[in-house]
Amino acid sequence: MALVRENVVAAAGYVPGEQPADSQTIKLNTNENPYPPSERVMEAICAITAEQLRRYPNPSGRAFREAAGRVHGVDPEWMLTFNGGDEFLSVVIRAVVREGEGVAYLEPSYSLYPVLVEVHGAKPVRLAYEMQGTTWQLPRGVEKTDAKLLLIVNPNAPSGHLESVERIEEIAAGFGGVVVIDEAYVDFSPVTALEVMRRHNNVLLLRTMSKGYSLAGLRFGYALGHPELLRQIEKVRDSYPVDAISIAAATAAIEDQNYARGTWEKVKAERGRLMGELKRMGFEMPESQSNFVLATVPGGNGRAVYEGLKARGVLIRWWDLPRIADKVRITVGSPEQNDRLLSELKKRV
Ligand SMILES: Cc1ncc(COP(=O)(O)O)c(C=O)c1O
Repeated sequence: MALVRENVVAAAGYVPGEQPADSQTIKLNTNENPYPPSERVMEAICAITAEQLRRYPNPSGRAFREAAGRVHGVDPEWMLTFNGGDEFLSVVIRAVVREGEGVAYLEPSYSLYPVLVEVHGAKPVRLAYEMQGTTWQLPRGVEKTDAKLLLIVNPNAPSGHLESVERIEEIAAGFGGVVVIDEAYVDFSPVTALEVMRRHNNVLLLRTMSKGYSLAGLRFGYALGHPELLRQIEKVRDSYPVDAISIAAATAAIEDQNYARGTWEKVKAERGRLMGELKRMGFEMPESQSNFVLATVPGGNGRAVYEGLKARGVLIRWWDLPRIADKVRITVGSPEQNDRLLSELKKRV
């Protein structure tokens, strides 16, 4: 008798970007913010009392939802907290999709989606991005699928390109199931689908504290959506998905908007410089509204550039996948990290 479900045995599982333990490696592979979190985060962590650890945390992460609600102009009832955005993705699939029903997602986009679909035993409905040169576009009619769940990353990963809010609204209005707009990188982008979410009760937004707020190590994400839908999803979630330390730290981070926004501006300025330098070296890329760029390598050998840089202590991301094997994804680092990347690239390109 098989001990584990067949589709779990058959699944390859998610392969996260490498996380080297040393601090020498220039790490531009998993889109972390190069700047540290707000000092208020460390103060909040240091102020945690033994009594807060003895007791269970607030199950709904109330302090965080109230702070985030003030930032977004949204009632806390329209938010649900998670142990990272990834946990929300796995919970929403379990809540919305029966085994064998469809989950639609774009290719290429977040490489975790197909893994979650496979493990759940859902049917993958793969929709190909239209790519012409460096122009990426959602194909027409993505909403005309009978899938129960549609996952769209905006700004997209790994391309960094942005779809308009009007297009997102058209999709939300035309789709019969739940649409997740994965806004993991929204802090580096000029637009959000927040207003679309308010107008359509089938739209959920994914947000994370990992990127814009420099807290990838904390594991804290949240969903925004209609309270009725969130109430159902909450039943599937762990009872205490975010712990007392995480709630205090994430609350301090989102309250310090001035600091976070300062880091976003620095990253965006560096993104412009990095793209300019890469283009001068013959790389081609779509306009990025995120904290990374997807660069087509001169000569088309993405693997060689990835491996060459890795041997010199600079980690970037490369996938052996159709349509993107000639490209590498580079996280926008600090000016010093980007200089090191560029100088290593100049040595080999
Ligand atoms: C597109 C996208 N969505 C969601 C996430 C989840 O982020 P986290 O689980 O760190 O909150 C990531 C992280 O890399 C991502 O790239």
